[in-house]
Amino acid sequence: MNFPPPQWVKDAATEALGTVAGNHYSHPKGRIRLREAIRDVYSSQFPNLGRPLNVETEILVTSGANEGQYSVFTAFLEQGDEVIMFEPFFDQYLPSVTFNGGVPVYVPLHPPAESNTSPSSADWTIDFDELRRAITPKTKMIIVNTPHNPIGKVFTREELEKIAVLSQEFNLLVMSDEVYENLVFDDKEHVRIGSFPGMWDRTVSVYSAGKGFSATGWRVGWLIGPPSIIGPTLAASTRIIFCSNSPLQEAAAAGLEQAKANKFFETQLKEYAERRDVLLKAFDDIGLRYTYPEGSYFVLLDISRVQWPEGYEFPESVQGRGRDFRAAWFIAQEIGVSTIPVSEFYCQEHQEIGEKFTRFAFCKDIETLKKAGERLKGITKYLT
Ligand SMILES: Cc1ncc(COP(=O)(O)O)c(C=O)c1O
Repeated sequence: MNFPPPQWVKDAATEALGTVAGNHYSHPKGRIRLREAIRDVYSSQFPNLGRPLNVETEILVTSGANEGQYSVFTAFLEQGDEVIMFEPFFDQYLPSVTFNGGVPVYVPLHPPAESNTSPSSADWTIDFDELRRAITPKTKMIIVNTPHNPIGKVFTREELEKIAVLSQEFNLLVMSDEVYENLVFDDKEHVRIGSFPGMWDRTVSVYSAGKGFSATGWRVGWLIGPPSIIGPTLAASTRIIFCSNSPLQEAAAAGLEQAKANKFFETQLKEYAERRDVLLKAFDDIGLRYTYPEGSYFVLLDISRVQWPEGYEFPESVQGRGRDFRAAWFIAQEIGVSTIPVSEFYCQEHQEIGEKFTRFAFCKDIETLKKAGERLKGITKYLT
């Protein structure tokens, strides 16, 4: 993001730095004020539990979602355990799984048909027979990410129910990465798979203060799940980081405590919807196909029509990578807009699916997005 966290949250960080305790170790589970704030905000989101979350056994504060996820893998993966992830996937999953001895197994989110000229993120679909076939006796876990990075897909209740049924049939753990929980547009619904009947005991849900409060550098996140998942994950996390940083846990607590009164998440959602629309209008103006995102702050632009001049020189770093790496390099150099080549979110064997796209991020202020839109007009002379 190129904008700051809200002032009242930053003020809470400053205040915490002014105290003695705010500068010292926290409990490895997380500071009690933050765990209580998490309990107060999230308990109603898990009605299947029938009681408030237990701050001692069902919540773990982590150094960002990333470290929380890594600690779950450390706690649960044995050498050779398979972890199913939908492809494209948030790129940290792969190394975090393999560093812990796991074996990633990829199940595609099938891209919209070429004939679909204005696809939405909902048109990226799961073949549930394919998902079932991917499950083996070695499968330990399935990662679900909704809203999804990089597609912007918001998984439907029906899709999540089908995943839940399979996870119960095959006794799988579910990691539900919901770091973009507050960025679901157009009155769509954010559904938590951990809240389904029978799913609490096998699901760990993953959240991020960085995404929630525009503070990605704070490295504060949290996990919610049953003691059977949170306990071993706490043991791993305690060895990896001991505890997350103290003053910014206090600030995150203040953020959650006051979000409702400040109408923070509603306002933030409106601001992101405006940002999204500025960028999408820029794509419409140049006539390039994109996947309309229903959630998150990402959008996939189809760059198959972008053609650079013959003989255009690329550095070694993008040679031997997908066509999208060259396209993203060319767009950055000649147009002045930086994007992420989407084959980066695929395993090597499937990179040709990702090669058609680059990922734009609209976590920028309107002025920057408008400037990007102006610059993107320059691409029209390179379209086939
Ligand atoms: C899907 C997804 N999960 C997790 C993370 C990591 O979040 P954090 O910054 O809290 O570690 C990101 C960050 O980009 C993400 O996109």
